[in-house]
Amino acid sequence: MADMQAPVWLFGYGSLIWRPDFPFLESRRAHIEGWTRRFWQGSHDHRGIPTDPGRVVTLIEAPGARCDGRAYLIEPDVFEHLDHREKNGYTQCDVEMFFADGQASGVVYIGVPGNFAFLGDAPMDEIAAQIHRSVGPSGPNAEYLLQLAAALRELDATDPHVFELERLVLEAR
Ligand code: SIN
Repeated sequence: MADMQAPVWLFGYGSLIWRPDFPFLESRRAHIEGWTRRFWQGSHDHRGIPTDPGRVVTLIEAPGARCDGRAYLIEPDVFEHLDHREKNGYTQCDVEMFFADGQASGVVYIGVPGNFAFLGDAPMDEIAAQIHRSVGPSGPNAEYLLQLAAALRELDATDPHVFELERLVLEAR
């Protein structure tokens, strides 16, 4: 039987990379395989409002793809805070994550296609325009994108989708 008290590895690929507002025992650069990061999830509570949602990232299944992020080893009671933070359509999913020197099973929050806040694909200039204009209780949507792009550079990670949106939003400013 699984030990319900044992620490759990959490994989973060969006704001969990650059705004870890929770306690953790250890943090490592990590990646997952078979998933790609996309600004396809609506944000009605953090980076937009119910009538004018912003866009934040979710993971989309993509055989052969790789998504870089940051893994955190956390105590199970931290999930109460995380479930609240990620309540806008995200669900906990099991995932295998890879470190420079090994791998671990853990959990990731995904806005699965079809969830109530899922917006899906759109032309890049429309996604950029929505991010450029949206603001929510946690601040401007553009801040989320720019912080994510900066955090990915710090991890020495590349993500053409994120970096292209960063370019478009900076151009629009
Ligand atoms: C994550 O960062 O892992 C989930 C999406 C987000 O909170 O931005």
